[in-house]
Amino acid sequence: MAQRVRKAVLPVAGLGTRFLPATKAMPKEMLTIVDRPLIQYAIEECRAAGIEEFVFVTGRNKHALEDHFDHAYELDTTLERRGKKKELAQSEDATLGAGNAVFTRQQRPLGLGHAVWCARHWIGAEPFAVLLPDELTLNSPSCIAQLAEAHGRTGGSVLAVMDVPREQTGSYGIAAVRNERGNLSEIVGMVEKPKPAEAPSTLALIGRYVLLPEVFEHLDRHETGAGGEIQLTDAMARMIGRSPFHALRFAGQRYDCGSRIGFLEANVAVALHRPDTRTEARAVLDRLLKG
Ligand code: G1P
Repeated sequence: MAQRVRKAVLPVAGLGTRFLPATKAMPKEMLTIVDRPLIQYAIEECRAAGIEEFVFVTGRNKHALEDHFDHAYELDTTLERRGKKKELAQSEDATLGAGNAVFTRQQRPLGLGHAVWCARHWIGAEPFAVLLPDELTLNSPSCIAQLAEAHGRTGGSVLAVMDVPREQTGSYGIAAVRNERGNLSEIVGMVEKPKPAEAPSTLALIGRYVLLPEVFEHLDRHETGAGGEIQLTDAMARMIGRSPFHALRFAGQRYDCGSRIGFLEANVAVALHRPDTRTEARAVLDRLLKG
């Protein structure tokens, strides 16, 4: 029987240069979507899948992430004293359980594969999730919950994929698949950021993974691939044929918050999605578009 997915790795060492100057003194993962930082959406996505243990792979200047998920003693005590129940709940919601999060540094920017490898001792010998917080997904069940469920059925690794226009394959890991049944198919190949003419398909990896721990054996080799970096995609490609490996067409929306327009789109989409902001957000957009 497949082991339950209990832990998630969050690679958050990136410099966020596309968002300068906002990211000069603040991690890009702390940029706000409506009223919570981007990173919190990834945590909520995991919690919705029953995942409560987190490994953050950070870098320099990422202290704000650690503080955000800590118990804010002074704030919470003040809110309690003032009877601000809703605000207190919001603060507590952003607090991770004692001992449930570790923060380790990537130290050198050697690629996504290297970032995930840095989490190896905290993951050990069990299946685990990886979420790239730049990507925001919306749906219930959450994207990671959909992958964890598919892992439960297949016992292997499962990646979330989505069709992208062929001219965009150079921005993604691309999977070649066969035997598509429903939304699940077997992965037969994977390549990182292929040119459109060389891409084996248009099925892009969208930064959500459930992986067997064997991936660390391949990451141990520290082989470099596309862009001279240690690529997670290359290590995963080596697992094909050795253990079950599937692609799941994710049901839901996904926003690329790594680009300015994608980030703006995510803000608007979340505001329109949430019951507490929906009506006002729609009125504001109507007004702006008419103007
Ligand atoms: C990373 C992965 C790539 C994946 C993408 C999704 O690339 O290497 O396989 O498709 O995330 O966002 P990055 O965007 O960090 O260059």
